[in-house]
Amino acid sequence: MSTDPAPTGAMADRIAVVTGGARGIGRAIVDRFATEGATVVIGDLTDPGDVGAGLGVAGHREWVPLDVTDEASVLEFAQSVEAGHGGVDVLVNNAGVMAERSITDESVAEWDLTMAVNLRGPFLMAKHLVPLMEGRVDPSIINMGSIEGIAANPLHAAYAASKGGIHALTRSLAIDLGPLGIRCNAIAPGWIDTELNRAYVERHPDRDQVVAELSSLHPVGRIGSAGDVAAAACWLASADAGFVTGQVVQVEGGRTIRLSLPPSLEP
Ligand SMILES: NC(=O)c1ccc[n+]([C@@H]2O[C@H](COP(=O)([O-])OP(=O)(O)OC[C@H]3O[C@@H](n4cnc5c(N)ncnc54)[C@H](O)[C@@H]3O)[C@@H](O)[C@H]2O)c1
Repeated sequence: MSTDPAPTGAMADRIAVVTGGARGIGRAIVDRFATEGATVVIGDLTDPGDVGAGLGVAGHREWVPLDVTDEASVLEFAQSVEAGHGGVDVLVNNAGVMAERSITDESVAEWDLTMAVNLRGPFLMAKHLVPLMEGRVDPSIINMGSIEGIAANPLHAAYAASKGGIHALTRSLAIDLGPLGIRCNAIAPGWIDTELNRAYVERHPDRDQVVAELSSLHPVGRIGSAGDVAAAACWLASADAGFVTGQVVQVEGGRTIRLSLPPSLEP
């Protein structure tokens, strides 16, 4: 397992917004940024309920209700952040949904919801928060892509298409916002243990066996944790990544670099 690093204060005085920060990967990013000294605004449909907890956290966490699919909600959120903090240094577009459907069963409403959360959301957040990022010191946007924007699991047409779109949006924003001094990168996580994919694992009667089999697909020998992704987000948000923009950083334990072989030819 990954270990929690010692806080360095690397994000002291930074204002960060994390969508979908109430749980899972988003929450790990919120906690990591706050531990590094940032003020973090969680934009989520759901109230995480415990943002004031966690003594020893150097920074500050707060929740502002947000539906990333709804432009009026995004505008209200942006106005609230501007009124409370005056600007934004780091925007993490993390909120996402995933559904398993065959293309013939997928309804237009289901397709549109996936696109609205995973792709329209980051567009709306960039559209309305970029004005709050202009003129800040090394502002940056981090979009949550996926290895499914590069390859695909079965029955994930909408999800994979939305994540491929996010990788393309990331490159476009890096080009268009570069002149404003805003960097934009994506993280493509692999299999990270969160609620999003836990249902897959729990469908099988022997969870330990599934996790062992999944782990064996990864050269590092394990599946990922939300903290693994948070560490990459922390780096991309930092001055150490000041010459990095338009990139899709894969945080996936090497899963996609291993070519599959039929069982009879496995060494
Ligand atoms: N878990 C993985 O293995 C994995 C792998 C690759 C990519 N990702 C991506 O990482 C991101 C986070 O995934 P996770 O596993 O933490 O998911 P999760 O389901 O645990 O958390 C998603 C969060 O997004 C919020 N959200 C959903 N719709 C929203 C909306 N319309 N407006 C605002 N907030 C909304 C939810 O309330 C929730 O807090 C997603 O974009 C996902 O596609 C996850």
